[in-house]
Amino acid sequence: MQPVVIAIDGPAGAGKSTIAKALARDLGIAYLDTGAMYRGVTFAVLRKGLSATDVDAVGRVAQSVVFVQTADTLEVDNVDATAAIRTSEIDAAVSHIAANSVVRDEMRLRQRQWIADHNGGVVEGRDIGSVVFPDATLKVYLVATPLVRAERRVAQHGGDVAEIARAIAERDERDSTRADSPLRQTPDAVVVDTSNRNVDQIVTDIRTLLTLRLKSS
Ligand code: DC
Repeated sequence: MQPVVIAIDGPAGAGKSTIAKALARDLGIAYLDTGAMYRGVTFAVLRKGLSATDVDAVGRVAQSVVFVQTADTLEVDNVDATAAIRTSEIDAAVSHIAANSVVRDEMRLRQRQWIADHNGGVVEGRDIGSVVFPDATLKVYLVATPLVRAERRVAQHGGDVAEIARAIAERDERDSTRADSPLRQTPDAVVVDTSNRNVDQIVTDIRTLLTLRLKSS
């Protein structure tokens, strides 16, 4: 049997990490946060004093950076970057890094290798169902209202809701309009609005969808 791959895509603050992690735990399969990988490259770039817009230098960093990643932690070149990759400095630079095609090619290779090594898993990101795993067992596209998304980020990391909402909107715009694998919903993805539902309800719904998908395949 083919390994089960569940793609969880959607914009910032739609609830991807919470849902994907809970789902993976529930199903007893691995979980990969691909956003953390783009954040990890950004961390390595800034630590070397390079500019996020220096396309060639950033590409070289992506090809050589060493990650040790678990569901909750990320080490970048032997440095624990778990907290550092969630700062506003990284937030501001990461979508430039994620628009770099050399970076994306390298991250895609690593993501496919990771799934092969783990015999499937729940993978969250922006281009998972559209580009990285177009044949995923199940594709889920999470959405939530802009206010809910901003409030979630403030609850996690503090800050001002209006300011965070503006920063999220800017990042969404850059992630959705970039030339290489922009954020988009594929026609075969199931759209789930997480605004007014709790994690358990959403995970149960996704499990039901997965069971139906596996039965019909
Ligand atoms: O999900 P996140 O906020 O941690 O993602 C960080 C950035 O990386 C975000 O700007 C979008 C980008 N990203 C991407 O382009 N492709 C992915 N598969 C995952 C994240």
